Order: sequence, then C-alpha cells, then structure tokens
Amino acid sequence: MDKRKKLADLRSRRWFGVDDLRAFGHRSRARQMGYDKVDWDRPIIGIINTWSDINQCHAHFPDRVQWVKRGILQAGGMPTELPALSLSEPFVKPTTMLYRNLLAIECEELIRSHPIDGVVLMGGCDKTTPGLIMGATSAGLPAIFVPAGPMLRGHWRGQVLGSGSDNWKYWDERRAGKITEEEWSGMEGGIARSYGHCMTMGTASTMTAYAEALGMTLPGASSIPAADSSHQRMAAASGRRAVEMVWEDLTPNKILTREAFDHATMVQMAIGGSTNAIIHAIAMAGRAGISYGLDEFDAMSRRIPVIANIRPSGSTYLMEDFFYAGGLRAILKRLIPHFHANAITVTGRPIIESSETAAIYNEDVIRPLDQPIYAEGATAVLRGNLAPNGCVMKPSAAEPRLLKHRGPAIVFESYAEMKAQIDRDDLDVTPDHVMVLKNAGPLGGPGMPEWGMLPIPKKLIKAGIRDMLRISDARMSGTSYGACVLHVSPEAYVGGTLALVRNGDIISVDVARRTIALEVPEETLAQRRSEWKAPPPRYERGFGWLAGRHMTQAHRGCDFDFLETGFGAPVGEPAI
Ligand code: FES
Ligand code: MG
Repeated sequence: MDKRKKLADLRSRRWFGVDDLRAFGHRSRARQMGYDKVDWDRPIIGIINTWSDINQCHAHFPDRVQWVKRGILQAGGMPTELPALSLSEPFVKPTTMLYRNLLAIECEELIRSHPIDGVVLMGGCDKTTPGLIMGATSAGLPAIFVPAGPMLRGHWRGQVLGSGSDNWKYWDERRAGKITEEEWSGMEGGIARSYGHCMTMGTASTMTAYAEALGMTLPGASSIPAADSSHQRMAAASGRRAVEMVWEDLTPNKILTREAFDHATMVQMAIGGSTNAIIHAIAMAGRAGISYGLDEFDAMSRRIPVIANIRPSGSTYLMEDFFYAGGLRAILKRLIPHFHANAITVTGRPIIESSETAAIYNEDVIRPLDQPIYAEGATAVLRGNLAPNGCVMKPSAAEPRLLKHRGPAIVFESYAEMKAQIDRDDLDVTPDHVMVLKNAGPLGGPGMPEWGMLPIPKKLIKAGIRDMLRISDARMSGTSYGACVLHVSPEAYVGGTLALVRNGDIISVDVARRTIALEVPEETLAQRRSEWKAPPPRYERGFGWLAGRHMTQAHRGCDFDFLETGFGAPVGEPAI
C-alpha cells in the first residue's frame, strides 16, 4: 500500500546518484559550495523566489525564505533557492502583464533544468501568482505556493486607507481641488506602511485566494498578513510539506482538476475578486489541460453571491480585517454546500476537510450566503457585436444606474490621446456618454495595461459625477471600481469591432441580459472594416516581438500559444 518514493526514485539522483563523469562534476561542484553527501542524499527542493530590491510587496522574502528553508531542513530535505523575475506591479513598464508569461517560462525552465525534486513558489504581487503556478504546472514536479500575504491597513490622520482604491478616490478629489499638496504627500507615507501585497481585494489578494482555493497553498495561507508571525510559521510549514509532497509524488495535475477550478472560481465570486483573475484562471487551467472559459465565470457568478465585505466591492474592510474575521477558510466553509467532495489540496486531503473546521468571527466581514453584500457574483460576461468573443464587467463595483445604459460614444484611439483630452474644459461629454478606449489590449497596449478605469472627465468630476460607463480592451486594477467594461475581445489593435467605433455611435449595455451592442447598421460596419488599416507592429525585436506573435486574446487567457498544453509533444526530462 505504501506508494511513497524511495531515495533511489528521486529525480535529483540523476544528477547526484550516478557513477559517471557528469555526476562527478555535479558532486564536486556541490562540494565547491561546502555541501557534502549528506546534503544531496535527500529530496532537493527548489525555492523559486520572486524577490527583488524593487518589489515592495515581496520586501520580506529575504527573511521569509529563511523560514521556508528551515521547514525544508526540518523535514529532511535540502533547500536550493532559485531567484526569478520579480514583476513589481507599480514599477514595471509598460505593464507586468506583458511579462507574466516570461515569468511562467522562467519558472517552468528553472524547474526542468535544475537537479530538484519539488518546488516552493514564493509570490503574491499580482502577476507573480499566476506566472509561477502556470510555469510549475507545465513543469509538473510537486509544487506548493507560499503567498506573500497582504500588507497592513493603510493609515493617515486617523483614517484607514486602502491600496489602489483610495489612490483613485483621492486623486479624483485632488483633481476636483479638494485636497492640498501637503495632504496628498501625507497620504503617500501612510497608504502603504508595511511589506506585503495590496490589502484591498485587488488582483493580488484575489489571486492568492484563488491559488488557495485551487489547493496550491496550505489551508489558510493566503489571508495571513505579511507582518503577522503566523506568516513565518506558514512559510516553514510549507517548506516541510514540500518535502513530503516529493515522497508522495503529489504533482500539480492531481490538484488542478476542473473541480478545483470550479471551487476557485466560486471563491472569486464570493470575495468580489478582481476581473484580472478571469484571464489568469483561464491561462492556469490551460496549463493543466483544462478548457475553462468566460462562460464558466458567468455561470458561477449567477450562482454565488459576494459575501466578503472587502473593498473595493465592499465599503469598509480590508484584508487585515478579513484575516481577523476568519480569512479565506471561512469563505470556503460558507461554500462547502457547493463544493465537490474529491478535490484535494497540497496537504493531500480534501479541501472540504480543512474548511469545515473554520470559524467565522465577524459576520459583517464574512457574510452568510443569504445576507450578501451583492446578490450576484462579482463578474458579468457580456457578448454582442462589439465583443463577439466576450468582455467582462464587475457589477458589484459599479453604480447600479449604469448596469442598463444606452448612450453616445466618446472615443479615444489611444491612452495618450485620452490623457491629453480628458481634463479639457471644452470636452464634448455628458454623464450619459459612453467612454471608449481603443488599442489597450493584449497586443495593442501592449500587454493589456490596467487602463480600463478611464478617469472621469475633469469637468464632470467638478460637477460631482463619479461613475460613467466605460468600455475598452484593457484590464483594470483589481483595486479599481466603476462601470468599466473590460477585456473586449477581439481587441481593437487586431481589427475587432471596437476598432470601428466612432464618436456619437450609440452603444447599449444591459448587464442583466448580458448584452453589449454597437447600434450601427452592419453595412456601415462592413464599410468601416474595409477602410480599417492595421497599425504598425509595437515591437520589431526582443521579448515584445515574441509576445506580439504569440500572446492569445483575453478570452483565451493571454498565454503564449506555444506554451498551452497540447502544443507539440511534451518536453520530457533533460538528457544528462
Ligand atoms: Fe504588489 Fe499591488 S503592488 S500587489
Ligand atoms: Mg493591481
């Protein structure tokens, strides 16, 4: 019955356990670093660490990796740290999304090419979570994810501040002339005051929650604030568990089943998660050989209400409050009636088992299913002639009056044009206009930047308007809010219908019916299409050139086509 691996079965033995000249090289070079036979005669665990000097969200990783190593050693493994692309959300231009797949490639190839038996993945800032999981899934060795944890609540002059969400909110106040320069600078010092990722339910918190619900973290791991000492203990426990997973051969394909994606998608709805999760989930599922698409998200959205009262969908609370209220395990407990019995986590045990024992300490933060903050889920998928392959919206973060809206388009051909125009006092715009931004998609952006929450025109801000219907092929930050229709597919840059919209065209959106329409006769659109000229390539060399040829559209997850499961024969183990 014991199916546990033996030392001789370990993958790393191919490097260290053979009597040939190459293995002599591996052992002698390990000895060069001070290691000995006792170090390599055991499971070797890679730690893929996305730390850098300019990644604020992972600033604690140099310390935290020591706890992971400690756990690996405690369990009889040998830790080997492998640094990887850090992808700091605010600093990397044009957008980290352009590089998510680069991290995924790096992670996959680091795992494949090194003498390791299993891997601990350290990430959390937005794209690092999907990038690492995509790569590790394709590589196929046992893998456990250590989420960075959210930073502490922001604080400024007695007020709580939330990452991102309050940047936008107070920037609008500043544009309206209601905040002084001194106040603005005070906020800069208070809004992000500890290491850890954004502490609203933005993309980072959504993706780490998604990873936990998939089963890729230890139960409860994703909600622990980075600065809480539970986080050290979780890091060490993850290291210990990684060693056991090697002996058990618990590989990602045994965890990442369709049922697991159903659970994680339910969680995304229940937490009012970021729309970015949709793209990443589709890409991660693709790596696991599972076809998961927009329809799954829409269906789940109709079943599962938003019960986590966390900003930006909720009004008050942040991730720290969420942790004190019971954290993600409490959400999972609420969802057990919807869960599949067989889905397991990195523990090797059913996710239901570790969720059942969760406690809920604050029912205003983690609501019962029948007292949601929003009765339908976080995501609506719209379709129509303007988005034949779909687009998405987060109704819970929009003013309800805009969920059914019809109005004339005001069109911006590019982000630069929008920026140059938006504050003009003579801009021809009313609150009923539908703002349209083109050429901000996966290939046009390039990299599909988070430009989808177009700023409200200054003259309307001054008049007290805080939300308008906005449509683009961009994404938006998970900390953003508003009636923003995003991820329009196909994008304008490749000639999607979005490219054909002109000022004054009537656009209608009906979220309840899941429709979006450009009310222009088909003959007119056909005429415009024949006149449309493809824009010049964004890049003529380098990684951008590669991305421009291979990144898929939003509804397919923006992975590179050649990285999707089923593209060509499996790579297999390197010849030694
Ligand atoms: Fe890293 Fe927001 S900047 S998660
Ligand atoms: Mg973000």
